[in-house]
Amino acid sequence: MPEGKPVSASAINDQTAIVFPDDLNSLGTLFGGRVMEMCDKVCAVVAKRHCGHSAVTLGIDSVRFLSSARHGDILVFKAAVNRVWRTSMEIGIKVFADDNRTQIRKHIVSAYFTFVGVDERHCPMEVPPVIPETEDEKRRFREADERRQARMRGNTKT
Ligand SMILES: CC(C)(COP(=O)(O)OP(=O)(O)OC[C@H]1O[C@@H](n2cnc3c(N)ncnc32)[C@H](O)[C@@H]1OP(=O)(O)O)[C@@H](O)C(=O)NCCC(=O)NCCS
Repeated sequence: MPEGKPVSASAINDQTAIVFPDDLNSLGTLFGGRVMEMCDKVCAVVAKRHCGHSAVTLGIDSVRFLSSARHGDILVFKAAVNRVWRTSMEIGIKVFADDNRTQIRKHIVSAYFTFVGVDERHCPMEVPPVIPETEDEKRRFREADERRQARMRGNTKT
């Protein structure tokens, strides 16, 4: 089995992006699909750093658009591996929007991404265990198992 790695070794705490005009929906606020694309890319970096090889997105759940963001806001992404099983891992992400004029920070998005480590033939391969260190990391680690069970109950045969 590969050696375990601490959550902090792959976590992203302050990835930023500015909301530009082409990121907006018809109401003039940040388009949800655009922010989800950004989240997928941030989580892909976390997954790749943790695995040390390629990983692909298997699923996204518990997506919550909690508040809107506007043109010129600075988005701040925070993402970390919550738990690893054999070939899959759950990555939690939160996005905040900073209004530069008021200095007010809003939590705008939360979601869980499941990534699967893959080899060069795109087949699932074992992922290093993750070592939670802080109280929050330990809580997320514990809670992740229940979420995985709920996801597995949702698996359907085609
Ligand atoms: C992701 C992929 C490699 C998985 O292949 P697969 O043959 O279904 O693999 P497995 O059945 O062995 O499942 C892989 C892992 O996913 C887990 N899994 C399966 N269904 C799941 C679900 N609903 N929720 C969470 N994990 C799930 C399995 O338990 C396994 O993890 P484990 O080894 O840690 O227990 C394959 O489905 C794929 O290539 N999908 C396309 C990915 C893609 O293109 N993503 C977008 C671009 S990055």
